[in-house]
Amino acid sequence: MEISISELQKMTSPNPFVLITSGEGENSNIMALSWWTFVSNKPPMLAICLSKKGYTHELIDDTGEFGVHVIGTRLREKAMKCGQCSGRSTDKIKEFDFLMRDAEKISTKLISEYTAALECRVVSKIEVSDHLLYTAEILKIHRGSDTGQLFAWEGYRYLDTIPKRQDSE
Ligand SMILES: Cc1cc2nc3c(=O)[nH]c(=O)nc-3n(C[C@H](O)[C@H](O)[C@H](O)COP(=O)(O)O)c2cc1C
Repeated sequence: MEISISELQKMTSPNPFVLITSGEGENSNIMALSWWTFVSNKPPMLAICLSKKGYTHELIDDTGEFGVHVIGTRLREKAMKCGQCSGRSTDKIKEFDFLMRDAEKISTKLISEYTAALECRVVSKIEVSDHLLYTAEILKIHRGSDTGQLFAWEGYRYLDTIPKRQDSE
């Protein structure tokens, strides 16, 4: 029996979820992202996969930098909205009332609320058919006051946590 790529993506979810900040000044943006992974420890690096249709890759190409935010349930609704409209036509920071803070090593701002926030600088960009794969060095890792991590379930359908095993402490 053959299944489609979207059925497979639902079957293999959940995927770890993050919010990406990009751009600077008036052109700052936030997007929802579940296609990411660590790719190196020394130096610490990660990879993100961005649709060519979105706005975020244009902003990242301008600055060579972006922020990555692991978030808990408090930002769940706002995070979902960031995945349902484009920064090309919506000022998501203003519209969804995000509080922002300066980063230390990059010009792109970070979201103020997070479990962890990463400052990243692009190392390489590879065109992969309808997506763009960026690898980036993690320049700084901030631990925030939030706890927990959201995952994307059933593809992009909803965000939720994964319960810890009772005996995992
Ligand atoms: C849960 C969830 C996960 C998503 N993961 C990705 C992803 O990994 N890569 C991607 O390009 N788009 C992903 N999206 C879709 C983008 O967030 C969406 O297209 C967004 O409008 C892009 O915003 P932008 O145009 O401001 O960059 C995801 C959306 C949701 C709701």
